Amino acid sequence: PMPMKPGAPLDKGGAPHQTTKDGYEAMTTQQGVPVRDDQNHLKAGTPGPMLMDDFHFREKMFHFDHERIPERVVHARGYAAHGFFELTDSLEEFTSAKVLTETGKKVPLFTRFSTVAGNKGSPDLARDVRGFAVKFYTDEGNWDLVGNNIPVFFIQDAMKFPDLIHSAKAEPDRGFPQAQTAHDNFWDFISLSPEAMHMVMWIMSDRTIPRSLRFMEGFGVHTFRLINSKGKSSFVKFHWKPKMGMQSVVWNEAVKINGADPDFHRRDLWNAIEMGDFPEWELGVQIFDDAFADKFAFDVRDATKLIPEEEIPVRIIGRMVLDRRVDNFFAETEQVAFCTGNVVPGIGFSDDPLLQGRNFSYLDTQIKRLGGPNFTHIPINAPKCPMRTFQQDGHMAMKNPVGRANYEPNSWGTKDGGPREDPDNGYQHFAEPIDGKKEALRPESFADHYSQARQFYISQTEVEQAHMGDALVFELSKVEKAEIRERMVAHLVNIDKGLADTVAEGLGIKTPMAMKAARPTMQDLPAS
Ligand code: HEM
Repeated sequence: PMPMKPGAPLDKGGAPHQTTKDGYEAMTTQQGVPVRDDQNHLKAGTPGPMLMDDFHFREKMFHFDHERIPERVVHARGYAAHGFFELTDSLEEFTSAKVLTETGKKVPLFTRFSTVAGNKGSPDLARDVRGFAVKFYTDEGNWDLVGNNIPVFFIQDAMKFPDLIHSAKAEPDRGFPQAQTAHDNFWDFISLSPEAMHMVMWIMSDRTIPRSLRFMEGFGVHTFRLINSKGKSSFVKFHWKPKMGMQSVVWNEAVKINGADPDFHRRDLWNAIEMGDFPEWELGVQIFDDAFADKFAFDVRDATKLIPEEEIPVRIIGRMVLDRRVDNFFAETEQVAFCTGNVVPGIGFSDDPLLQGRNFSYLDTQIKRLGGPNFTHIPINAPKCPMRTFQQDGHMAMKNPVGRANYEPNSWGTKDGGPREDPDNGYQHFAEPIDGKKEALRPESFADHYSQARQFYISQTEVEQAHMGDALVFELSKVEKAEIRERMVAHLVNIDKGLADTVAEGLGIKTPMAMKAARPTMQDLPAS
């Protein structure tokens, strides 16, 4: 039989006895044995106790019992499609990566969109961040750009990620709310984490809930590195810009749509691709050097900050088209495994303390989620270029080393000796000079939490600002504990006094004094 494609139907054809009289393919067990009765299990007497002889029943039930795998610990609800990337403008000056230097070539890719906080069955139009994860199957291996639809993040250091997500998901005693930011734990954590204020402004804005995934922007968020063939490094931020422009729904629309059709976004993407109306995005980059990074008002390694496009314009370098739906949701959309650590020669990391933590977390979680160390053998995760390693065995090993050698150095030669490291073309980490102490400190350069939040707020139109005020009043009015509401408004004073007054009025409280401490505790709450 042909090797199975992801989601491909079970083997076709076969021996004559595998076709029924009326022309259907005969159902078989997993061993290929034709099945006579798929309606009734084998019994001793009628009806009598079940007989262990019924291997078909046992196999069918055992397999059903094991259908579930853990959902993703975040971004559980997602929807994906296949497509291609075509580079139109080479970045040869900055990177040796073929995917960013070979113009005109179509690189296959797989893109998964998601919400973050809700479980797998939660509604599509929650007030939440959207994931925008792209796996490029390049000739030099898989490159994953695992981004979001908001260019900044809630926290600066990966150490806080489990706390952020615990606070955003269902509360542990009551097991709700599902897919909503409107609850005490979320706002408690946020109000004690001033670094979150910039992202909170985006989340409360009209940009948050896309009308359709096809009208959504994407951002790599972190500053990454590009490294050229001479070993010179530049910094880069990645952007996806939807060809059809950006459009959102407002909260009242989202609430109605979620009630009527919680699958609204996935249905829209499926239908568009089925109709041949293929969604398209431009890939843009902001490239800058150490000199810019040194003089920029914020630390380029701080994921709660963006680099204004007025300072470094976005250069469009290519396009992504999603032109093929999945054949099977589980095999592809569920089993796909993205990781920020998946980079190709010519692309590298910055010392962003969030990015560094992500590089560990994705691989770690996927070993559990996908049942062991061989999930790169699943077709959706396997590179489309050769994969040759001496890694072997483990559960579900499909691609063990071929031949005698499974170690190196060895002296078996090019015929039997297996793969060798490639000093000329192999991945080389950027040799960044390091000078410092080993300590768990947050740099001073990460300390300004309000300026970009303010810039975002004042960049909005009056109507959009009013919606942000409404959103904050709605969300915070669901918070039961008064101190949390008040503490949030104390932060808003630092962002925009008018916004703070509006929200305070909506909540029926007096505007408190501005939040003072960088890391406030309950005791730091100013008296109102
Ligand atoms: C998914 C961890 C920050 C975007 C995930 C998953 C984990 C995780 C464990 C589930 C992966 C899986 O089961 O396959 C973290 C940690 C973060 C972090 C530890 C911070 C320290 C971010 C940021 C972004 C992001 C800043 C956006 C730039 C995504 C996306 C997915 C995801 C898009 C879904 C991938 C998919 O569609 O399968 N993250 N994350 N995450 N994360 Fe993060």
